Amino acid sequence: ITAGPTFEAIDPVRGLTNLSSGKMGYAVAQAAAEAGARVCLVSGPTCLTSPAGVRRIDVQSAAEMRDAVLGELPSDVFIAVAAVADYRVDAAATQKIKKSTAGLTLQLVANPDILAEVADLPDAPFCVGFAAETEHLAEHAEAKRLKKKLPLLVGNLAQDTLGRDTAELVLFDDRGQHRLPRTDKLTQARALINHLASLLN
Ligand code: C5P
Repeated sequence: ITAGPTFEAIDPVRGLTNLSSGKMGYAVAQAAAEAGARVCLVSGPTCLTSPAGVRRIDVQSAAEMRDAVLGELPSDVFIAVAAVADYRVDAAATQKIKKSTAGLTLQLVANPDILAEVADLPDAPFCVGFAAETEHLAEHAEAKRLKKKLPLLVGNLAQDTLGRDTAELVLFDDRGQHRLPRTDKLTQARALINHLASLLN
């Protein structure tokens, strides 16, 4: 399970990141462990404590997250909850960049898509993705599920979820859409793990 944001260095003291708190990913890790799974949580920077019985690997960048995830394979299930940065700075400065009235231009390059890469492996685990959208949730989420070749994708509206303690999720799979009404993230995570178990069985 991946969780949290990634942090992409600009220089030794600055970076690019996002508003993911890691709460949903940690709740999913807890729910999976409660259900009897052996769980490895690959976590970007968060302020959260690890759920009981969950092994955690801390990472910062998308590249580190990718290496940690690939190092844990093979596994039966991969749940990508992390809000991975789409871009990183091409060549992060090794010394602090000095302020200049001329401004600063950063050259960004695309990060690897960890979930798409894992889902495309010949012996791919059962892959679950998360899609935070700001509009047209069903349309974007189902398109993302098919593009990344995922049996299950969890959609939510970013502005209603990021950093909050509750979430309203919609599960997209081959059988259609299943709405989980707004409640706390641990309850949502337990419902997601139940749904996942029913698909695996
Ligand atoms: O960013 P996007 O909306 O494509 O994210 C959808 C899913 O893909 C999420 O589950 C996220 O964790 C995963 N992802 C990833 N690596 C990326 C981008 C997204 O694993 N570089």
